[in-house]
Amino acid sequence: MFGQSVATMQAAVSPRVHFQVASTYDAGAEIRRAALWGLAQTPKQIPCRFFYDAEGSRLFERISELPEYYLTRTERALLEAHAAEMMGTLGDAPMLVELGCGSSYKTRLLLDEATRHGEARYVCIDISDEFLHQSVHELSTAYPRLAIEAISGEYGPALPLVPSHSHARLFVFLGSNIGNFTTGEAVEFLSRIRSIMQPADALLIGYDLVKPHEVLHAAYNDSEGITAQFNLNILCRLNRELGANFQLDGFWHEAPFDPVESRIEMWIASTREQTVSIPGIDMTIGLKQGERILTEYSHKYTLGSMANILESSGLCVQRTWTDPLNWFAVSLVRGAGART
Ligand code: AVJ
Repeated sequence: MFGQSVATMQAAVSPRVHFQVASTYDAGAEIRRAALWGLAQTPKQIPCRFFYDAEGSRLFERISELPEYYLTRTERALLEAHAAEMMGTLGDAPMLVELGCGSSYKTRLLLDEATRHGEARYVCIDISDEFLHQSVHELSTAYPRLAIEAISGEYGPALPLVPSHSHARLFVFLGSNIGNFTTGEAVEFLSRIRSIMQPADALLIGYDLVKPHEVLHAAYNDSEGITAQFNLNILCRLNRELGANFQLDGFWHEAPFDPVESRIEMWIASTREQTVSIPGIDMTIGLKQGERILTEYSHKYTLGSMANILESSGLCVQRTWTDPLNWFAVSLVRGAGART
């Protein structure tokens, strides 16, 4: 089935587009495995990557437009203002390697610069095959001078497939997606990127900064309740995909900021004592009144705390752009000891 979609892709799009499957990500098997493991933990947990089914992705788009959710628009403004500088040190014929193809608008700000003086290459890695096909198709029409390589799969199997390049490569990891990792996981992930970086390569990373707690709280507890829907949608997904019988009115959304860990934590709390059966994994779970299921960490950094994480990963900050309020940062990072 994948083989066929690869062939179709190449024929239907253009010879400038190449599609590779790094790992056949079986979403059904993944969610079963994660639920079986996570719901047996204390506290119960469901990993945040399961937010993003079609409905969840749509809800995230809405979140990114909410007045309280400053992250997306602040990062976008930084890219709008500084894309030329961000790309400037790369030289001719660069290759952009995007980890998790975010909103194509942000990517386009970088691609506009990359293709300004000639040819460029774009490699995008994403777990969602469907999402990749769509963005690759749109980009190939918009950028006739761009060679595109799409790699579908998880980062682990996909990173070794990133092609080498005669000029500099820029790895791009935006949206404060790094914030979903614990510090240990972040170092592990960034070290893996570092290990495939060549001396001329760089990494562009976007991350959310510590700020007044009311601002952080509001961003994850918006007045329209979209974030609550986004959070609870994960239960709809378990109902649909694993035949579970979570009653949505028996749960509420909680997203407190923990100043010690410097992170927003997204939880789903049970309003009452209840039992839920999940036939897809042969599991029945009991929840006490007020018991919570963890769905996401969203870490908030200082320039210093991120510099430490990068340093522990063998990387060092070359330049950082922040907004006037210091709410969000984008850093250009190189291998420690690499030429600049
Ligand atoms: C896409 C992981 C950066 O942590 O702010 C938005 C996801 N969760 N609202 C974030 C999210 C709740 C978002 N990231």
